Amino acid sequence: MARSPILRNTEISLYTQVEGLIKNWISDGTLQFGSRIPSVRVMSKKLNVSISTVNQAYALLEAHGHIEAKPQSGYFVKKTSQVSTPAFKSKALSQPRFVKDSSRNLDIVSACSNEKLIPLGGAVIHTSLLPMASLQKSLLKVIRQNPEKAMRYSPLGGIPELQKEIAKRTFDAGFVTKTDNVIVTNGCTEALNLALKSCTSPGDIVAVESPTFHGILRLIEDQGLKLLELPARSDQGIDLEAFAEKAAKFKIKAALVTPNFLNPIGSLMSDENKERFVQLCYKHGITIIEDDIYGELYFTPTRPLTLKSFDKQDKNYLCSSFSKTLSAGYRIGWVIPPETEKEKLLLYKSTNTSSTNAALQMAIADHLANHSYERHLRKLRQTIEKNFSLITETIFKHFPQGIKITHPKGGCLIWIEFSQDTNTLDLFEKALKKNISVVPGCAFSTTGKYMNCLRINAGVLWSAEVEKALIEIGTLAKTC
Ligand SMILES: Cc1ncc(COP(=O)(O)O)c(C=O)c1O
Repeated sequence: MARSPILRNTEISLYTQVEGLIKNWISDGTLQFGSRIPSVRVMSKKLNVSISTVNQAYALLEAHGHIEAKPQSGYFVKKTSQVSTPAFKSKALSQPRFVKDSSRNLDIVSACSNEKLIPLGGAVIHTSLLPMASLQKSLLKVIRQNPEKAMRYSPLGGIPELQKEIAKRTFDAGFVTKTDNVIVTNGCTEALNLALKSCTSPGDIVAVESPTFHGILRLIEDQGLKLLELPARSDQGIDLEAFAEKAAKFKIKAALVTPNFLNPIGSLMSDENKERFVQLCYKHGITIIEDDIYGELYFTPTRPLTLKSFDKQDKNYLCSSFSKTLSAGYRIGWVIPPETEKEKLLLYKSTNTSSTNAALQMAIADHLANHSYERHLRKLRQTIEKNFSLITETIFKHFPQGIKITHPKGGCLIWIEFSQDTNTLDLFEKALKKNISVVPGCAFSTTGKYMNCLRINAGVLWSAEVEKALIEIGTLAKTC
């Protein structure tokens, strides 16, 4: 019998592994759209696991919309999970240049945080999907137990208990760091800001994926850096060939990239490409600033590794935050710099925001240590993955024919490509009038490209109202 791909000596449950394996077979085409999948009995034999394990995996796959049971016939791959369109490939290739106009995105950014709008725009996780009550309990507890500590400035690098909890989590991301090498920041935004400041000087070239998060474009503009937008694909992230070519041609100082579930196209770089990318950067003396804010929102069987896990020479920065997993409003993030750069970074932190809110750091540290963060994350991932299926299904039913849509393996964002003549800035404005927020593609580049693309947030609490809003966007898109 062929060796089963299911691992025994791991913390990942057997049914999660079976579920992940089948999802991979669906996405790589091994299991064809509409085809019957092996019966529970056959699958249990094939994978050398129990019937109840396969039953659990099939139940999850069904709940998440990947497969469907047909009476007396068995399980079939559901059409919606297979409505796959070709990968999105950007062509944005620019020369390095100063950015002058990224502030034009302010209307779009404001719409993303306007709570009166139906939130299909901002990359925001609905509060009902977050552990609000237990975080509140933690906050009240730490303030009661240690009121003076909560009142004082936090140490520059952060509250040690929180640094320790963050350092522990890096193990899953594929590397180990010393507790005091974690610098707690005001969100991932400050982490990226400090990292950029620490490894570049005004006028230096910074390479990014295109499209990329509009906040990154603004940071590069703010620091007087030259931006180099490089093409990326929704099925593999940054184009390594294009990167190697530009690295040989220009003196790129830093690469600010999101290898795990790039905002907005959701791409995930393979481990092989991550390693190649780190080696290429070593070769050309380029410092990597890695944005891993979506790293824990994966639907793959295991957490994707970080670029930092391949950084054996400790040259690169890793930035992240709890904004997508616990609370965006608490503003707690972190940067893990190369050890040699730590002092410099702390100095920048002292002039940037001096310190991060002590009480909120203490609350998150308590939550991580004493509440079931892992269980919360598992539930959150399942909900978002289910939302992806529901949103995809609705889009395919109600949006104009011929669109392309991404199928990310994590994160919370879906990217839609309409026909070339669609104007999604127009769509954004029309949607605002209907109290719905979406983000037009042009926000993710300074080149004027992606005008026919749209980003949709899947971190929603799915409801009839959200579905109606999505259908409305589809109707409006036909007029833009
Ligand atoms: C890729 C990426 N990086 C950074 C941020 C900013 O994170 P924070 O709210 O923690 O500052 C976001 C927010 O959406 C993001 O998508």
